[in-house]
Amino acid sequence: MSENSDIGNGFLPSGQLQFGVFFQGVNSGTVWKAAESGSQTDFESFRHLAQTAERGIFAAFFLGEGLRLREHLGRPHALDVAGRPDAQTMLAALAAVTNKIGLVATQNTTYNDPAHLAHRLASLDLVSGGRAAWNIVTTDNAWTGENFRRGGYLDHADRYRHAEAFVETAKLVWDSWDPGAIAGSETAPAWLRPGSVRSVRHAGQHYTVDYAPRLPASGQHRPILFQAGDSPEGRDFAARQADIIFSAHPALEAALAFRRDIVARTVNAGRGPNDVQIMPASEFILGATAREAAEKKEWVRSLQIGPQQAIAYLEQFWGRELSGYDPDGPLPEIDPVVAETSETRGSGFHGAKARQLADQWRAEANDKGLSIRQFVSGRTSRVDATFTGSYSDVADTLARYAATGAVDGFNISPWLVPTGLDEIVNHLVPELQARGVYPTEYAGSTLREHLGLPVPRRAQAQPDGGADARADTGAGADTAADIRLELAARQLQL
Ligand SMILES: Cc1cc2nc3c(=O)[nH]c(=O)nc-3n(C[C@H](O)[C@H](O)[C@H](O)COP(=O)(O)O)c2cc1C
Repeated sequence: MSENSDIGNGFLPSGQLQFGVFFQGVNSGTVWKAAESGSQTDFESFRHLAQTAERGIFAAFFLGEGLRLREHLGRPHALDVAGRPDAQTMLAALAAVTNKIGLVATQNTTYNDPAHLAHRLASLDLVSGGRAAWNIVTTDNAWTGENFRRGGYLDHADRYRHAEAFVETAKLVWDSWDPGAIAGSETAPAWLRPGSVRSVRHAGQHYTVDYAPRLPASGQHRPILFQAGDSPEGRDFAARQADIIFSAHPALEAALAFRRDIVARTVNAGRGPNDVQIMPASEFILGATAREAAEKKEWVRSLQIGPQQAIAYLEQFWGRELSGYDPDGPLPEIDPVVAETSETRGSGFHGAKARQLADQWRAEANDKGLSIRQFVSGRTSRVDATFTGSYSDVADTLARYAATGAVDGFNISPWLVPTGLDEIVNHLVPELQARGVYPTEYAGSTLREHLGLPVPRRAQAQPDGGADARADTGAGADTAADIRLELAARQLQL
């Protein structure tokens, strides 16, 4: 099973890997200038990727969420690929053209309401036959909030307190129908078995719920919970709530350190050391030989980070137009306009100390003799996440990840849409299967079964008025009698 299990806290590597595919929708990594580049929005692109992933026994098809188009210097970021159909609409359509693959919708807890989102996810779970998952994000800036009636109303610390209450409430919604709640027999006195459905009540700082959940549990009981967010608060939240983390730590040493940290937090939260799985973001550039892959990588990078992209990348930190600079020349000698880039809208670089960063980068580029373009190519977060090499070399590398228990799999962003998974499925997956670290068939029909996750214990509603140490998590039980009466009344009206 494992060559090394130094993770601690009783963690046991499974020795196995799973793949997910992250159709990003909005990003700077998808190559759109190649002859093979297809649409980012046509259903056909989604269908091709999902069915290819299913052919490769991928556990999950994953969609991100962006609530506002990224901006660059006050304008939409015209160099990015953009186009993001609503995740649940798209996943419901994909449910009809796939049979096994899990369907993961990224949805934020800051601008949604828990009962409503829980219902929509429960609907996807039913429509797909128990294949739905929710990637829980808190979404991190007030600029996004300007789009919503409540505005940017939560700061960082509050967002995770709110998220906790949100998820606890969603669980109560999903767990509110007992197994066998629908009597389903001609001799039954009522369609619903009396006492088998509970309502969910909560009145807190951020939202109010007084709700009779409208759906029974799915074949996997409730949607699988992913989480993405990397702060200490985000990690603790995942340790308490998540089944699986979509992480940003793919490099082996960083992945091992992340695993140790998450296992410690999970055990600290009273769960088992293996209870939270980890799948980092990743990109694969493959070839029949190492040389072919290296040449392909040069080409892919030249399209991902062309002259304009390199300049735009620096502009995010400099906070000013740099279009007069030669992308093949040295970094700008001019200083950033802001001392602290507290919020680069829609990008991932919040709170960078721009002046300090500029000095540091200029020195580094100077030492290494790098042009703007060369410097940016070695800088983007994609660098750590990219596995480049021959099919067999990359399979060997991944087998090592499996053995050490650094990760449970990878969430792969194809650099080409819609055919970016073809090579992975045709060549890398068989190599992994031959090494015994990747499934040769789906474990069952639900995502829970594919991931080997147990059916969760049902969330227990607290009695009304019961003490609750965490702020805003007072989802309380209604009496079964109330809800029975309410539903019976509705039945009569029908
Ligand atoms: C790998 C990864 C993927 C993410 N994907 C999304 C996304 O699709 N939509 C989104 O609004 N936020 C996304 N987030 C950001 C989270 O919403 C979160 O707000 C952000 O990471 C800040 O939280 P933190 O301070 O705990 O990291 C992602 C974060 C990570 C680490």
